[in-house]
Amino acid sequence: MNNFTFRNPTKILFGKGQIAALDSEIPAAAKLLITYGGGSAERNGTLDEVRAALGTRAVLEFGGIEPNPTFETLMGAVELARREQVTWLLAVGGGSVIDGTKFIAAAVPFAGDPWQIVATRAVGITAALPFATVLTLPATGSEMDSSAVISRRETTDKLGLANPLLFPRVSVLDPTRTFGLPPRQIANGVIDAFAHVMEQYLTYPVNSPVQDRLAEGLLLTLIEEGPKTLAEPDNTEARANVMWCAALAQSGLVSTGVPGDWTSHAVGHELTALYGLDHAQSLAALLPAVMAERREAKREKLAQYAARVWGLADLPEAQAIDGAIARTRAFFASLGVATDLAGYGLDAAAIPAVLGQLRRHNRVQLGERGEVTLAVVEQILRRCA
Ligand code: NZQ
Ligand code: ZN
Repeated sequence: MNNFTFRNPTKILFGKGQIAALDSEIPAAAKLLITYGGGSAERNGTLDEVRAALGTRAVLEFGGIEPNPTFETLMGAVELARREQVTWLLAVGGGSVIDGTKFIAAAVPFAGDPWQIVATRAVGITAALPFATVLTLPATGSEMDSSAVISRRETTDKLGLANPLLFPRVSVLDPTRTFGLPPRQIANGVIDAFAHVMEQYLTYPVNSPVQDRLAEGLLLTLIEEGPKTLAEPDNTEARANVMWCAALAQSGLVSTGVPGDWTSHAVGHELTALYGLDHAQSLAALLPAVMAERREAKREKLAQYAARVWGLADLPEAQAIDGAIARTRAFFASLGVATDLAGYGLDAAAIPAVLGQLRRHNRVQLGERGEVTLAVVEQILRRCA
């Protein structure tokens, strides 16, 4: 396996009732700003549970962070936090609220134009406010990673950033706080977590049996438990298992010492920026198409995936790979998520638009070996058009 540095400092408080522990995790003297989304956390009582846990502290609140959080909205929170001299943040929501809070954490102490944090992928930031999270949607793994994806309406950008300063200090993962999720978001979450593992696993072999089996364990668990979370929305055990899968998928454990692909994510962000697809919807269309288009480059890992995840070891290799790609697509479809662009009302006219965005963002050599040029992306998009 390749050399690596691994450090994940996020403290996880897992299970029902863990929101109560926030009071002792956040310093009593902190000037705290709670951030949340469009209202689900208010409606289902999660915010009330958080407020109760924080007791008599004076806390500020900033709501209205939208899915695919925008620079425009988040700057409102940055201005509030600066004006009120906030010292700690607490995100209550899904990946969008947590990602948005990471941007706020970086932007409050940032001296220059805050968009530069996103434009430079946060590589050079030297400070960020400390923050905690209460996760309400298992999907992105943002609760246990140092990445965020921020959009800007004005310029049709959706860009990822990462910095070790952006790990949450503490994250509460209470599966019962996800019970009210609509089926669309439950399915999205399973697919996003699945795709995260695949981006780090389905590349080429580097003799990394630990990472491989960890990845395969997460994939098998998502295949087993994901459908249960849709069929039985109040099944705490199933939801807990999916929640832990989603967090571990992005925790850095799967990616240590192995190559990463991330083609589906890079192209998917452009589909979301242009056409508003949910993040996981873009992945459900793109990931099987990437597998098919890159089957030669990924042949050995595809065969391993076919054998160990889908039990196709007895088939000739080419058939096993065909079967694994078909089963991946069928798994996503079984969760009720369309696996082609037509399912989202898009046709081939989207292809040049996506390629133009990738060119503008200088994402012209994607994949584990930098071989996925715009010409290859075009083929991938044709496969899922
Ligand atoms: O805004 P509210 O009212 O809270 O509603 C949200 C939103 O409409 C709703 N929701 C969340 N928890 C709920 C709930 N509804 C009912 N009950 C609950 N318990 O779900 C909707 C979607 O929420 P959102 O946070 O947008 O979804 P998700 O967690 O999938 O996050 C997607 C964002 O994360 C980025 C994506 O690109 C996208 O912008 N990602 C972040 C990553 C990271 N930080 O590492 C990695 C991922 O690859 C991904 O790119
Ligand atoms: Zn993702």
